[in-house]
Amino acid sequence: MKILLLGSGGREHALAWKIAQSKRVDKLFIAPGNAGTAEIGQNVNIGTNEFDRLKEFTLANNIDMVVVGPEDPLVNGIYDEFKNDSRTGHIPVIGPSKKGATLEGSKDFAKGFMMRHGIPTAKYRTFNGANIAEGLAFLDTLRPPYVLKADGLCAGKGVLIVPTLQEAKQELQDMLGGMFGNASATVVIEEFLSGIECSVFVLTDGKHYKILPEAKDYKRIGEHDTGLNTGGMGSITPVPFATPEWMKKVEERIIRPTVEGLAQENIDYKGFIFFGLINVEGEPNVIEYNCRMGDPETESVMLRLKSDIVDLLEGVATGTLGQCNVDIDTRSAVCIMLVSGGYPENYVKGYPISGIDKVEGSIVFHSGTALKNGQLVTNGGRVIAVSSYGNIKEEALQKSFNEAQKIQFKDRYFRRDIGKDL
Ligand code: AMP
Ligand code: GLY
Repeated sequence: MKILLLGSGGREHALAWKIAQSKRVDKLFIAPGNAGTAEIGQNVNIGTNEFDRLKEFTLANNIDMVVVGPEDPLVNGIYDEFKNDSRTGHIPVIGPSKKGATLEGSKDFAKGFMMRHGIPTAKYRTFNGANIAEGLAFLDTLRPPYVLKADGLCAGKGVLIVPTLQEAKQELQDMLGGMFGNASATVVIEEFLSGIECSVFVLTDGKHYKILPEAKDYKRIGEHDTGLNTGGMGSITPVPFATPEWMKKVEERIIRPTVEGLAQENIDYKGFIFFGLINVEGEPNVIEYNCRMGDPETESVMLRLKSDIVDLLEGVATGTLGQCNVDIDTRSAVCIMLVSGGYPENYVKGYPISGIDKVEGSIVFHSGTALKNGQLVTNGGRVIAVSSYGNIKEEALQKSFNEAQKIQFKDRYFRRDIGKDL
């Protein structure tokens, strides 16, 4: 089988690592990929939103399956583009249709969907330029802190949690006034939920679903969850509070109604669903949906998936996922993200990276790297993920911390408290 994987981050390196282990794969291409994926498969210099060029490439290279890593091309309708073109209609695209990706692409759509299907989530209302006064009045009825969400995609920056009513009112006006461009022309205001977050991942063929290992992601730049939000500084799986009893609630109240709801609404969805959950006094609630795997969760979750991922992806494509088995490694897996100094604000790219060859027993996934005249250099805020197994989480963490120290680049930073709160 020939597979084309789209994306260029740590998530895609981890997916490529897992896909390449399948005996069924003859050739793996990654578009555009990074310096890490280049060691596993062949990088192709096409952007994830260049649909015409991607279609030409799949036809010219007899690609059997396209696996989509990031949300952007999904929200832009890559699934429908391939499906509705008679030349590419037979090539399965793993990822939802444009309408399905709206679960991530529009917070208002996602909240409405949850309401229609009785899925537990924070109370909310949606506002736009035409009803600002109502939005301000709605804020008066809530208790602090206030949660304001830009409706559209904002690369993870569109959610504001503000402590005072006065600030919330100002932020609402700024958001509707174009703080995030068109993405915040509509704003969801919701009740603040207090609890610990957990990411749950599912693969679905639209009818059946399989639950993958859950993970916890560490979003803040500073230790003990302080400072600015990042794309994610590390992840750990399993999550101790995701007991079988809790996961049963998640499946019955959230996963099943979501998959059934999509089918009922005739929304074509063949791909990953990422449930961003919060545990409120033992009760799971949905914070958000994403239409893809998480990053950096994938860099730990893939370590625990023992089954051949290509079998599962084929089950998704052919509607036979129900017959597939998902074997999970009982060990812990963690990922520690090495980032550029200054991230998530300004940082310098292009610093030489050394020491990866000294890493033993951990798996190194590239996130933001590039090759410059044969030298591996930093090329992003999140640079490298170091992932490890352990019989208990402490062992996996210690392993990742030890091996992470061996990788050097100027102003390298990583959090040393990943997993210690659990
Ligand atoms: P989202 O993009 O919707 O996942 O929001 C980003 C982050 O904001 C989440 O991961 C949570 O940490 C936080 N957040 C979002 N909505 C709420 C809420 N209703 N209550 C508490 N925290 C929230
Ligand atoms: N780790 C959170 C995300 O991928 O959105």
